[in-house]
Amino acid sequence: MHRGRGAEREADRPENSGSERALSPELEATAEEIKAAKKAEQEDAERALYASAPKKAHPCEGYVRLDQVGEGTYGQVFKARAENTGVLVALKKIRMESEKDGFPITALREIKILQALRHPNVVRLHEMMVSKASVYMIFEYLEHDLNGVLANPAIEFKLQHIKSLAKQMLEGLEYLHKKGILHRDLKGSNLLVNSNGLLKLADFGLARLYAKRRGEDHTNRVITLWYRPLELLYGATQYGAEVDMWGAGAIFLELFARKPIFQGNDEIHQIQCITDILGPFTSERWADVDELPWFGLIQSAAPEVNGNGQKCGSAEENLARFRRVFSKWLSPAALDLALDLLHYDPQGRATAAEALASPYFTEEEPPPQIPIEVFREVQGEWHELESRKARRKRAAAAEAAIQNANEHSTNTNMNNNNGASVPGPGGASVGQVMVAVGDRDAASSIQWTDAAAVPLPLVVPPSAPRPDDLPSVGRD
Ligand SMILES: Nc1ncnc2c1ncn2[C@@H]1O[C@H](COP(=O)(O)OP(=O)(O)OP(=O)(O)O)[C@@H](O)[C@H]1O
Ligand SMILES: [Mg+2]
Repeated sequence: MHRGRGAEREADRPENSGSERALSPELEATAEEIKAAKKAEQEDAERALYASAPKKAHPCEGYVRLDQVGEGTYGQVFKARAENTGVLVALKKIRMESEKDGFPITALREIKILQALRHPNVVRLHEMMVSKASVYMIFEYLEHDLNGVLANPAIEFKLQHIKSLAKQMLEGLEYLHKKGILHRDLKGSNLLVNSNGLLKLADFGLARLYAKRRGEDHTNRVITLWYRPLELLYGATQYGAEVDMWGAGAIFLELFARKPIFQGNDEIHQIQCITDILGPFTSERWADVDELPWFGLIQSAAPEVNGNGQKCGSAEENLARFRRVFSKWLSPAALDLALDLLHYDPQGRATAAEALASPYFTEEEPPPQIPIEVFREVQGEWHELESRKARRKRAAAAEAAIQNANEHSTNTNMNNNNGASVPGPGGASVGQVMVAVGDRDAASSIQWTDAAAVPLPLVVPPSAPRPDDLPSVGRD
């Protein structure tokens, strides 16, 4: 973590300005009491919400399959209703076709890990079910995932809601890491949210136990590219909970920007996207970086100029620029936290416990508030699958519009005897449509300068390759 920033934070906070210091001790005490009462009220409300978690269906009762809500690497996910109790569940069908050697080992690992977990911010696996030669994992049902929620402009969060979602994600991670479990596939579509605004970590397909004392080799081909930390991109095979914390940092920024921040096309481009935003890593920011296996090999991907061809300055200049660009969304304490989570050197990266103890959660106003009233208003259910479908529909409409416009302009030109270009009625809109189509396909990340003000395109990130599918570096 960046140390020694405390003094700067103290000076920045409005409650420490001269005028507020003039409050009488009595008034200060009253303000403290009000703050404490508000906090207690919020905690009571949270406890009540957590206690109202959906009930479990009776073991082994039948389920009526409703809609499909997910299509993952590992199988389809369906919404279903328990026949007797009416409880909603999610059925995750385990894909067996390609398994010559019996039950897939990754699914076995996922089940074993999930059975050992019980936390309000971790999805509950109720039971397993075999039906018509298919095996299903039966989960509590959550109406949305973060990817679907953030892609829906009708769902608007206030700062206190974002703080609550971030807190819930970090509480889930803190619990996992205490139990010695790495998630290794943190991303919006793996963070489920229910209609009470409770967030839960899901998809433990890449999770595994890790030894906190290190020395153990794991594969570095994990974590969906956009959320993968630099040490894995540089081939590290000995790692711990910090790999999840980088992803938490990327998602934290995404909660504000509502779009993924580092949208690389491949590993090299991913490094470029990260350094374009956070600046190059120098030995001052990451002392042992040159010890990473692929450092020499792909060093050229981290040049001293950014993607816009501008020369990158010192670490301080880069971090100051990051703060300037992102201060349109993030408060000073939120910026501090983002930078602590996105610390290049994994040894200095904030742990989940440190992040939860940061001034962003403990001191800065407003306090976190579960976005229950936001979700009460939400029409429909929003998973990545729905947002992906909506995106495809928009893309098809845009392509049809281009085709229409092209046909129209061909006709116009044919009718225009002197052949001079006449901006037909479609002329202006072609450019606009082109932008829409370009947006769909673009996987560019935020660039330094003012481009950061432009809303980022939302595209589906290249999924984390499953360890079984890839030649692995290091043992899994
Ligand atoms: N318990 C649940 N309640 C509601 N929806 C769920 C639940 N579990 C999963 N989903 C939906 O199904 C999608 C796919 O599920 P999951 O991530 O577990 O599968 P996967 O095959 O491992 O996915 P991927 O490989 O794409 O990450 C999720 O992104 C989510 O939208
Ligand atoms: Mg998933």
